Amino acid sequence: MWDNLRQFVDVLTQSLDAGLDEAGMLARAEAAMADLVADPAWLPEEFAQPDPAIYRQYLLYRDPQARFSVVSFVWGPGQKTPVHDHTVWGVIGQLIGSETSQRYRRDTGGALIADGPPETMRPGEVASVAPFTCDIHRVENPSSTDKAISIHAYGGDIGRIERHVFDPATGQAKSFISSYSNAAAPDIGA
Ligand code: FE2
Repeated sequence: MWDNLRQFVDVLTQSLDAGLDEAGMLARAEAAMADLVADPAWLPEEFAQPDPAIYRQYLLYRDPQARFSVVSFVWGPGQKTPVHDHTVWGVIGQLIGSETSQRYRRDTGGALIADGPPETMRPGEVASVAPFTCDIHRVENPSSTDKAISIHAYGGDIGRIERHVFDPATGQAKSFISSYSNAAAPDIGA
């Protein structure tokens, strides 16, 4: 059941072991993510359960050296994140349903302004975030009736990294740590 995820993890592990830089990792992870989300059948139901109150983030794999992590992000209808950053590279692959991301950038006065139109991902599509491209966005499940699931890979242990949420009106940042919805990652045999 974990073959697809294990293959994805192997690609990232081997690329990191080979010393690929961040931009190289982002490109490699995007290509591997496209394979991972081409068919949603591999994700067990246990890691596909939404919560009526808030989106869930299930840790699927954490590199033993915490160089990267893989998460299933499960949205109930209409759920959305605050405006936030990541501080490490991240690759998002849409597995089921859709999600919409609005990117932000700082204007000269330091306020956050929308950076382009909202972008909606459909099943099989892949997008990325990174400190060296665009790292601030807000994400939501645009459906008022259906759940949505995306697979995220990040260049660190994302649930333990101190990063930021932002007040979009003032641009003011507040530190946060997102944590995970499950206590421990499943054994995928990697
Ligand atoms: Fe994000």
